[in-house]
Amino acid sequence: GSASVEDAPDAAIAPSPFDSLRKTSVQHEVHRKLIEDWQMIEHREGGYFKETDRSPFTMTVGEQSMAVKCDSSAGTQEENTVSRNYSTLIYYLLTLKSPIGKLHKNKNRIIHILQRGKGQYVLIYPDGKIKSFRVGFDYANGEVSQWVVPGGVYKASFVALNDEFHNGLLISEVVVPGFDFDDHMFMPNFQTLVDLVGNSQAEKLKFLL
Ligand code: GUN
Repeated sequence: GSASVEDAPDAAIAPSPFDSLRKTSVQHEVHRKLIEDWQMIEHREGGYFKETDRSPFTMTVGEQSMAVKCDSSAGTQEENTVSRNYSTLIYYLLTLKSPIGKLHKNKNRIIHILQRGKGQYVLIYPDGKIKSFRVGFDYANGEVSQWVVPGGVYKASFVALNDEFHNGLLISEVVVPGFDFDDHMFMPNFQTLVDLVGNSQAEKLKFLL
């Protein structure tokens, strides 16, 4: 089916999904070996990642800074542009030892491709709309295996119980233009979440901060 997240069937967000996930401090051997073999490192968002490709070609794009421009005078083209690689590609892994990818947003749309396991995504749009959906290969039961998150939309993810990948989730992510820290922003705090979705929803989602 379509990779648009709008078309992904909605999933309820359990109040505390990790009650049912035996949270353990011991990494499953399969995950431990994958992290070691592929030299994955801990991601600041939670989970583990490895950048497997960064296009050597660069492009010039409009100013990507999230900071408010103070200078109202018209700048030259160069003053308002930044250089980015054409694309980047990563593996991203969640396990029971690090089961949550914390709420953050990126200036650019991100293409996600499922490799192994199951999980759930929670998106928060700038207007406060919440979209949550399950990722997996069981498309007959509403899971999707490709999904595109629009730029500027907050995103979080967490593993869902599954036998086939030992309660893990392994995906690939493609970003165009390529990933740059300046295009990335964590959800700053609980109040920002409250301002976006209101008090009761924020309470339900605060485990993703
Ligand atoms: N470095 C730190 N985080 C990331 C990420 O999410 N993607 C890429 N490509 N590099 C990173």
